[in-house]
Amino acid sequence: MVRSVTLSNGAEIPLVGLGTYKALEGTVTEAVKAAIGAGYRRIDGACAYDNEREVGAGIEAVIHQGAVKREEMFIVSKTSTARRRIEAVLNKPGLKYEPAANQIGSHPYLTQERLIDYCHSKGIAVTADRGERLVSSTGLGATLEEPRIKTIAEKYKKTPAQVLIRFHIQRNVIVTAKSANPQRIAQNFAVFELSEGDMETLRRVNGNMRTFPMSW
Ligand SMILES: NC(=O)c1ccc[n+]([C@@H]2O[C@H](COP(=O)([O-])OP(=O)(O)OC[C@H]3O[C@@H](n4cnc5c(N)ncnc54)[C@H](OP(=O)(O)O)[C@@H]3O)[C@@H](O)[C@H]2O)c1
Repeated sequence: MVRSVTLSNGAEIPLVGLGTYKALEGTVTEAVKAAIGAGYRRIDGACAYDNEREVGAGIEAVIHQGAVKREEMFIVSKTSTARRRIEAVLNKPGLKYEPAANQIGSHPYLTQERLIDYCHSKGIAVTADRGERLVSSTGLGATLEEPRIKTIAEKYKKTPAQVLIRFHIQRNVIVTAKSANPQRIAQNFAVFELSEGDMETLRRVNGNMRTFPMSW
């Protein structure tokens, strides 16, 4: 069973999704098929990733095999005109605006606990995929090499990537992990439980470090 959270509009969004940003051409369809086979029901894409046709082909193939129904899948896309369209809706007089989800950057170096608690207290789901790499092994996002994360991973006989993903799930934060590798796709979806003490250790890794500073 895929764990999900309910958005304020009633839609169910699976907590773990497959990312497709920078997935190499020719690998995406197989990655999507592997992910759905492993239990993923959310695929994250965007026009700008230039691979939505491959994503669609993967979903279509699995639906055709009868392994999943279209209505079970939560497909995310982003388009460059979305903001204008949203503004057009919001500018209608008397329209009440209730955000369903807030997309933020978050990982153990940037835990964002107060913001997440605030959003959840208002019934706003939080999704942690705003350009802050989850399992990156370079630069400030070197979370796979972080000693405290490695120690916790060893304790549970999991990988650091699984600990990072679990950190989000356990805070009810929606997370998207990109992989084109079937083993890692399955690994990233494998569910386990971290103790509250280990969650606290991960929270203390926080240094309010952003790998991708943004201001609007
Ligand atoms: N809405 C937005 O503004 C926005 C912005 C950025 C990203 N996103 C979404 O979020 C997704 C995730 O972000 P991301 O692609 O930047 O980075 P990511 O998922 O944090 O990291 C992807 C990298 O980690 C590797 N990886 C995956 N699983 C692993 C594991 N278990 N162990 C070791 N390495 C692993 C992947 O390599 P392999 O493929 O070789 O496994 C890939 O190089 C994107 O693909 C996109 O769909 C959305």
